[in-house]
Amino acid sequence: MKRVSQWIRPLSLSLMLGGVLTATAAQAGEVEVLHWWTSGGEAKAVASLKATLEKKGDTWKDFAVAGGGGDSAMTVLKSRVLSGNAPAAAQIKGPSIQEWAQEGVLADITPVATAEKWDSVLPKVVADVMKYKGKYVAAPVNVHRVNWLWMSTDAMKKAGVTKAPTTWDEFFATAEKFKKAGIIPLAHGGQDWQDFTTFEDVLLGVGGPDFYKKTMVKPEAASLNSPTMIKVLETYRKIKPYTDKNAPGRDWNLATQMVIKGEAGMQFMGDWAKGEFLAANKAPGKDFLCAPAPGTTKDFTFNVDSFAFFKLKDAAKIKAQNDLAQAIMAPEFQETFNLLKGSIPVRLNMDLSKFDSCAKDSSRDFVATSKTGTLLPSVAHGMALSSAAAGAVKDVVSQYWNNDSLSAADAAKRIATAAMTQ
Ligand code: GAL
Repeated sequence: MKRVSQWIRPLSLSLMLGGVLTATAAQAGEVEVLHWWTSGGEAKAVASLKATLEKKGDTWKDFAVAGGGGDSAMTVLKSRVLSGNAPAAAQIKGPSIQEWAQEGVLADITPVATAEKWDSVLPKVVADVMKYKGKYVAAPVNVHRVNWLWMSTDAMKKAGVTKAPTTWDEFFATAEKFKKAGIIPLAHGGQDWQDFTTFEDVLLGVGGPDFYKKTMVKPEAASLNSPTMIKVLETYRKIKPYTDKNAPGRDWNLATQMVIKGEAGMQFMGDWAKGEFLAANKAPGKDFLCAPAPGTTKDFTFNVDSFAFFKLKDAAKIKAQNDLAQAIMAPEFQETFNLLKGSIPVRLNMDLSKFDSCAKDSSRDFVATSKTGTLLPSVAHGMALSSAAAGAVKDVVSQYWNNDSLSAADAAKRIATAAMTQ
């Protein structure tokens, strides 16, 4: 005969397990997450976030709104929030976080941040952006560098190009070489945010970091209405003939594909483009090069992706929302996600041994430029000006790119007004 303890033990174990399972099921919540990460590399990165959350027993409800740069996603988000149906979390960045917080719709996630010591593992400049009136309302995932030039090594060989251009004169000489070899010199997607991304590189490369700050971070009339701005605009216009006739409307990741296939020699894009190269099994240094955009070797335009959290009522959903916030900042996730996304972890003191040379360069330059005052917020990616001012400048830049009859002088005047938008 079995002793009582012999059958009580398995029973109590199964009761215990049942209890745990029931408790988990009761606590498990759904997190609806709005994002615009739908390209090859982006989708892999977002899948890693979903998997991390699901490991905690929560459910991921995907709210993807396609469109690089996120303009469409932001439009959809506004209508959802206005109709009283906000998602649990949304990809919101830079000064926009403050704008949303001012509306009183964001949740305070300080308890998670305090428990996880975010203040001591985040650069202060980043932590400040995630807080509203001293309380955390958002969590950062990464640091993207925007001022990169991507090059196809295949195309370089065919065109006799031996290195990345470091000045704008060299850029145009390199573009000529690609053209002579019958290769599209520059892969570009003619969408306003991509036009603006290229413009940002030119403005920084031609004008330098102080000019960048005085026009795109804390705009001053004297710098906006200056001969340097005219020079920036003239240089920018010279780029367009090196793009192909199918550029208008093209998505950024399709432009990256052109470089991946060697159909185009170069592309200006942030390092989310690296996520596409990696997803296509291409290796930096071998199949492609990453180099700072001409004239910006000593500068770093940063773009920190982050998720802001909306106020919720349901306790299980709030718990799941907190799980997401915790997961985003955990070291393992910061590694897995950023290896796929092309960015570097935003969390300080991470081991980067699994990261490639582009990421290591990025990390080194991020630290170095933070000491020299040349770490600059990307205006094209919503890090610098208010969303209204950035949107207004973007419109003018795109009009200028698309309309050759708009003079540099007139465009400069319009940019000056736009940058001052309150
Ligand atoms: C940026 C975003 C990146 C990348 C890119 C293209 O604004 O910060 O993470 O996704 O858009 O969609």
